[in-house]
Amino acid sequence: MKNIPHRLILTEEQMPKQWYNLRADMKSLPDPMLNPGTLKPIQTEELYPIFCEDLAKQEMDSTTPYFDIPEEILDVYRAYRPSPLCRAYALEKYLDTPAKIYYKFEGSNTSGSHKLNSAVAQVYYAKKQGLTGLTTETGAGQWGTALAEACSYFGMDLDVFMVKASYNQKPYRKAIIQTFGANVVASPSDTTQVGRAILEMDPDTTGSLGCAISEAIEKAVSTPNRRYVLGSVLNQVLLHQSIIGLESKKAMELLGEYPDIVIGCAGGGSNLGGLIAPFMQDKLLGKKNPYFIAVEPASCPSLTRGRYAYDFCDTGKVTPLAKMYTLGSGFIPSANHAGGLRYHGMSPIISKLYHDGYIDEARSAEQTKVFDAAVQFAKLETILPAPESAHAIRCAIDEAVKCKETGEEKTILFGLTGTGYFDMAAYTAYLEHTMTDYIPTDEDLKPGFDSLPTIPGIQEQ
Ligand SMILES: Cc1ncc(COP(=O)(O)O)c(C=O)c1O
Repeated sequence: MKNIPHRLILTEEQMPKQWYNLRADMKSLPDPMLNPGTLKPIQTEELYPIFCEDLAKQEMDSTTPYFDIPEEILDVYRAYRPSPLCRAYALEKYLDTPAKIYYKFEGSNTSGSHKLNSAVAQVYYAKKQGLTGLTTETGAGQWGTALAEACSYFGMDLDVFMVKASYNQKPYRKAIIQTFGANVVASPSDTTQVGRAILEMDPDTTGSLGCAISEAIEKAVSTPNRRYVLGSVLNQVLLHQSIIGLESKKAMELLGEYPDIVIGCAGGGSNLGGLIAPFMQDKLLGKKNPYFIAVEPASCPSLTRGRYAYDFCDTGKVTPLAKMYTLGSGFIPSANHAGGLRYHGMSPIISKLYHDGYIDEARSAEQTKVFDAAVQFAKLETILPAPESAHAIRCAIDEAVKCKETGEEKTILFGLTGTGYFDMAAYTAYLEHTMTDYIPTDEDLKPGFDSLPTIPGIQEQ
């Protein structure tokens, strides 16, 4: 019997000093992003008005396998990393499963989630270029918090367009972002042209990440010395988040362990992409064959019910076109409580890996079943999970229960991406049985699919 501790935290020296770029080992790359004006593959320089130059280069680099993490970024990482790899002994015991359940806990920094890993990097590169401010969107509020933290550390201005549903559900999230000095606007807002247009069509809309992205981009390109940053979906974000997987793999190696199943919740795909990165490398290189599962809300089922198609990353249709699993940029998800998973599309890298069968399975989970798992986990493991993270917990529990039935001693690793202290409205709704499960009908999904762009010779409706 191996003596495996409840928590393993690597030392500062053991923390990875490079990010891993999964694209360098992919057998077949995601289709190129297209310029929405010319419908031709976008060139790096064309991204410079939106993103700072180093990040645009990372976005387009499909060949460099490892990127050195600049010392200034490592310095901030050292304030909250390495993050713990935990063994869910209490949950295993409760489930009476022969499975071993591990989770990588990314919620022990103030942002309460993995989002800080990319926020620090993105702000650092913007500062290095001499920019003075950034704009962004936030769904659940974790990304906005993380970016506000990073901006205050590096001395940058920040405007955060916060999805209206979250703005109303989570007043204290907004207050934290403001405490770090950022300006928060409920989206859609009347401060941008695109926001006004969306409000005119639907004055009661609770917003979506897609709307907030459009507003943040408009603000960035219309304000001098500003750029836009995005907390998920993009290749560069998955690159920065690879630190999650690299640390997990190193910690598991020290324990003499390797996961049979790796599970992550999937909003825009950044934590999932980061967690699976080095394990996926093993699969791509034919060294190991772990089983990968992406979990998304049944109310916003981009992988499980979406189309693999070129689409805009935002509702206002101003971003480049990306080939991804999408519900259509016109799809406005219902106001469920996992704000960070309410996105119509999915990272092109994750989409491609799923399309080509390297991500073995995508699963959707209903909200109340997700909260059943969240509460069970909190009571046993003492961490109150974010609703987004609880999608992965739901799946890990289901897999561990299957192991009990079959007697298999599988090793399960899942990403516990964040904490849910600002999601108490959601927990209250669950406890008071007022929480509902909304699953869109095919009819509900149709307008989103109808909004997919036609690209002559590439994509017809
Ligand atoms: C705690 C948490 N987990 C997961 C996500 C989903 O994002 P992604 O799919 O990019 O990891 C979010 C997004 O806001 C989040 O806040």
